[in-house]
Amino acid sequence: MSTPSITRLADYRAPEFLIEKTYLSFDLNEAYTDVSSKLSIVSNPQSGKTSDLFLHGEQLELLSLAINDQPLSSADYQISREGLTIYNVPEQFVLHCKTRIYPDKNTALEGLYRSSGMYCTQCEAEGFRKITYYLDRPDVMSEFETVIIADDNAFSVMLSNGNCLSDSVVDGKRIVHWHDPFKKPSYLFALVAGNLDCLEDSFITQSGRNVLLQIYTEAKDSDKCDFAMQSLKKAMRWDEEVYGREYDLDRFMIVAVDDFNMGAMENKGLNIFNTSCVLAHPKSTTDAAFQRVESVVAHEYFHNWSGNRVTCRDWFQLSLKEGLTVYRDEEFSADMNSRAVKRIEGASFMRNVQFVEDAGPMAHPVRPDSYLEISNFYTMTIYEKGAEVVRMLANILGPENYHKGTDLYFERFDGQAVTCDDFVACMEETSGKDLHQFRLWYSQAGTPQLHISDSYDAERQQYHLHVRQHTPETPGQPLKQALHIPLKITLYGEQGAQDLIIEGKNYGEETVLDICREQQTIVFDNITEKPSPSLLREFSAPVKVDYDYQLQQLQQLVLLDSDGFCRWDAVQNLMGRVLHEAIEGDSKEPTQDALIQSLKRLLQNFSAMDMGLLACLLDLPSEHYVASRYEKADPAAISQARTHLQHQLALALEPELLACYQALAGEVAGLSAEAMAARSLRNRALGYLMCIDKAIYRGLAEQQFLHAENMTDQFAALKAMVHAEHAHIEAQHALQAFYQQWQNDALVVNMWLQVQATKPWGDVLRDVRALLEHPAFDKRNPNKLRAVIAAFANQNFSQFHQLSGEAYQFLAEQIADIDQRNPQIAARLLTPLTHWHQFIAPYGQLMKAALDSLSQHELSKDVYEVLSKSLVEN
Ligand code: PHE
Ligand code: ZN
Repeated sequence: MSTPSITRLADYRAPEFLIEKTYLSFDLNEAYTDVSSKLSIVSNPQSGKTSDLFLHGEQLELLSLAINDQPLSSADYQISREGLTIYNVPEQFVLHCKTRIYPDKNTALEGLYRSSGMYCTQCEAEGFRKITYYLDRPDVMSEFETVIIADDNAFSVMLSNGNCLSDSVVDGKRIVHWHDPFKKPSYLFALVAGNLDCLEDSFITQSGRNVLLQIYTEAKDSDKCDFAMQSLKKAMRWDEEVYGREYDLDRFMIVAVDDFNMGAMENKGLNIFNTSCVLAHPKSTTDAAFQRVESVVAHEYFHNWSGNRVTCRDWFQLSLKEGLTVYRDEEFSADMNSRAVKRIEGASFMRNVQFVEDAGPMAHPVRPDSYLEISNFYTMTIYEKGAEVVRMLANILGPENYHKGTDLYFERFDGQAVTCDDFVACMEETSGKDLHQFRLWYSQAGTPQLHISDSYDAERQQYHLHVRQHTPETPGQPLKQALHIPLKITLYGEQGAQDLIIEGKNYGEETVLDICREQQTIVFDNITEKPSPSLLREFSAPVKVDYDYQLQQLQQLVLLDSDGFCRWDAVQNLMGRVLHEAIEGDSKEPTQDALIQSLKRLLQNFSAMDMGLLACLLDLPSEHYVASRYEKADPAAISQARTHLQHQLALALEPELLACYQALAGEVAGLSAEAMAARSLRNRALGYLMCIDKAIYRGLAEQQFLHAENMTDQFAALKAMVHAEHAHIEAQHALQAFYQQWQNDALVVNMWLQVQATKPWGDVLRDVRALLEHPAFDKRNPNKLRAVIAAFANQNFSQFHQLSGEAYQFLAEQIADIDQRNPQIAARLLTPLTHWHQFIAPYGQLMKAALDSLSQHELSKDVYEVLSKSLVEN
């Protein structure tokens, strides 16, 4: 293929033309759709004059083109692969354009496509240009009117953004007319036509307006929308109370579709959701999936302000909406559930996934400065690290100034397309803080490392904390500057938390230190004994910390720290040390003992604890995280050490685990926080017990599988059996029974596929190949690809990293095939192979060989970008 061109932030220019009004009409026919547009175009007074108009457009059949009702001749314009240039246009005119598209043939799921018969759209980031010729860029905001035309009775619902103006039948055609009064960029356009059921409710906003809420699904799923509806109402209330943001339209709609590249999409007034992020029912949905529905519903709703009312100037500013909205949804979930658990999940995700991305060939800043394909930049860095950057601002400014800053941001930029810098400037203005250095977080990639050491001066009663920061180089950024890092700390002594007195000022028991220099020392006065520092409390910054704790200090933090994240971090630290010693062939008893004793104490007191937190404390660090601690990792050694540790812990804690499992047997059903916490702890205990080869535990799992009242317990039992090598027979029966029971529920079938693809023993590659042939599999459906191929490559470390390299080749072959239909998904599947640098021979070389063989194929821009960046030697 010809080398795709690079888009650079430095080349940003304001649009030469604006589109004041957009009229669209969609004529839906069985074989094709005709799209007519009428665009009121004016040249942009803010930009230099040009008389040639370029409109984006891809894979379109142009039927007709006219300016001010004058048809254009072929000499008046030119069509390329990227779009349409019209020569010599006036300063202000109306463009009429008619294009034909083929939604049935659209397998990329971008633009207008069909999913289980229903028409739906996905326009972010650059999908609108596959619908009609347009200025498909977020800084062109327009008022949209949309007419949808289809045979009468063909569809029960025909939806678009905003308010419905009319719905009528003329000559056997149904014509539905929509109007969205708010200006928006084309990426927020949406259209849906299908035969759908609807759950309705309403919400009274803080100013007393009544909003109609609707969730549309296929009839078979209509009993699975209640939870999403409740989540939506909670989110609407929360945004009013916490951010002072009220909903603006009279109607808010959600549509669930089976085939969707991502989780969900915030189209104005008409959100479109992957079924996996909206449907939920206790019988068929796990607690984790319920939580996901709650957070994604909230996330998309919150975009109405952070994204839609105030949008991005260009796609380099993507984190402006995504980072802020993720931070908002994380805080919402923390308020609705256990704050400590939510924070641990966030921190763990950052470490296991984002830190890995930041250390690989695709590392990029929160505001990237170039891309080939923007779809490749919907990443952990843009979303999760972007959210951490907003969280740091809230930490540095304090809640009051932070909220003054967001109020100013929403008010000042309402109806505009703006930049990350505009956001930070609001924070600066309302707080009076200098955020000059802080802005580096947007432009500098890589995970900073804090090296912390300390010393205690008994005579002066002074404690010194020495902090050194360093950010490793990333592609294209060899030199890094010191960042402004908020480090939240507490100092624990024998008597508990000490008062923190710095330069004569008493900050109480917890404070946020502003770490701004490459090296700095903080001196605490009136410290009467050498303390244990509790560092990076609540994961106050997305950094790695190393401090050489003594085992005893870690034990103390595990048991007594008032911050859940730090307790978890202390256990992870202990587990990490045990694993490291085992990998180095140098296991030390005291380390393992310290870990076991700590966990034992916790388990003996489980009923007095936040059980959800305890469940997190029992989690082992992921193989990916362990691997990331080495210059070159040996995957086999890592898997082996981890499996061994799990087994050792199960044996050492067996009585406590069993007692805990049994005590929680009669726990309450339902979705209360306590019920979910108890289930998570109980199922963690079962997972450990199933590492022990005993009939009694197989029996427990089997009983739980057969009698479970909810999917959380049923699936946990299934997984425990399938993943335990010694439960082979029981697992076979359970897998069959599970499929029998759930074969008509696509989302549950995905879990059934996934549990097999992630099995840590046996010839799983062979099983995975067989699953691809199973009638339940569908290579066109992204959820199925994620359940089998992505799960195998990302969540089955030991089976993916085989000495033969066969699994790497398998993945490359699958990507080449998928790329022909759905480039976005294909590019995402490539991630695990891009980390080949991280692994010792022959693994690293075999991974690279798989990449090389993929490069022999005809590739999309999406896959090409990831592949070419990861093949660079360094
Ligand atoms: N903007 C969506 C969200 O995060 C994600 C998305 C991006 C969906 C691109 C589809 C395509 O809320
Ligand atoms: Zn989003």
